[in-house]
Amino acid sequence: MLDPDLAGRLVELIAAGAHTDELTFAAEPGVELETGLSSRPVTTEQSNTSLIFGNLYILKLFRRISPGLSADVELHRALRDVGSTHIANPLGSISGDLDGKPVTYGMLQDFLDNTADGWAMAEGSVRDLIGEADLHASEVGGDFASEAYRLGEAVANVHHDLALSLGTAQLDRAGLERTVATMHRRLDKMVATIAELADYAGPLHSAYDALLTVGYPIAVQRIHGDLHLGQVLRTLNGWVLIDFEGEPARPLPERSAYMSPLQDVAGMLRSFDYAARHLLVGLAPDPQLDYRANEWAERNRGAFCDGYASVGLDPREQPALLRALELDKAVYEVAYEHNNRPTWLPIPLGSVARLASDGADSQR
Ligand SMILES: Nc1ncnc2c1ncn2[C@@H]1O[C@H](COP(=O)(O)OP(=O)(O)O)[C@@H](O)[C@H]1O
Ligand SMILES: [Mg+2]
Repeated sequence: MLDPDLAGRLVELIAAGAHTDELTFAAEPGVELETGLSSRPVTTEQSNTSLIFGNLYILKLFRRISPGLSADVELHRALRDVGSTHIANPLGSISGDLDGKPVTYGMLQDFLDNTADGWAMAEGSVRDLIGEADLHASEVGGDFASEAYRLGEAVANVHHDLALSLGTAQLDRAGLERTVATMHRRLDKMVATIAELADYAGPLHSAYDALLTVGYPIAVQRIHGDLHLGQVLRTLNGWVLIDFEGEPARPLPERSAYMSPLQDVAGMLRSFDYAARHLLVGLAPDPQLDYRANEWAERNRGAFCDGYASVGLDPREQPALLRALELDKAVYEVAYEHNNRPTWLPIPLGSVARLASDGADSQR
């Protein structure tokens, strides 16, 4: 992929709609591609391999292949079909057969030039906050809240469009019980190996069980599945969501299941927490800074929910669901940091502690 001539060949094959014994290259209907563009690899950390062609296209080559149409291609097409303005349009694909099953090897999309990713922007805002010794999140120049609001609107619009394109359902009793049982199982597994979590096991289990008695129906649909600030790009016109592959650790059939859209909301809320706190890792403890970082997180989490609620359902109207989903995510993060980045462990562990202790008033 580092060989620009070879890489350029891939776009030519897509443009030509070429077939080999193993592979099918296809442009999306109506798409005319430019060829002969120079290519360069994406340099940010990635789980796949992406190449940028002349600042016009980006080609993602999937490293881990599962049988079936990739959710990334499927959801981009579904959103394109209903005219979503919050995606980079899909332009082509590379697919094939593996052991008799269809697989997707690559996806070509519009490259969005002159963008900043949500994580970098949020981090800049927090850096500003830390630099201003006495100011609150609402007072610093780099306040992120209006962007967080717009991001909430964008995510709600994408959920609306996914529902329009691919349908919705209500989680039935059996589905709800399965979901809750999965959360319990994941927690038990983590508690067995991570001593720090044991203190919170009780409140966490009750937070999951609270889902069984909520008084509202739980709507489910196709969702992004792995939403965080690193998966959104701020273009000159607004926010775009990228990377609809779903949670990479899950098998494909599970990833394409209907899920609550609040799972994406929970992912984004967790991301605001991370953005607020990760720059404090390694600094001398400072209660005032902790307080202001917390204020930043709450301000932006609130603004995100306000923006979401201006288009769709207010996520805060389903507190037990949102809390269980956030906790489930935070437990996963605790395990991840425990195994890979122990200095960051206090970030999700602190959130687990906070969410576990403010449970009493959100058991509905
Ligand atoms: N359409 C796009 N326009 C501009 N940059 C993009 C686009 N899609 C992805 N990127 C950049 O490439 C990076 C990796 O893309 P992503 O689809 O998230 O891959 P992965 O599945 O490996 O996480 C993103 O973080 C972003 O910086
Ligand atoms: Mg990604």
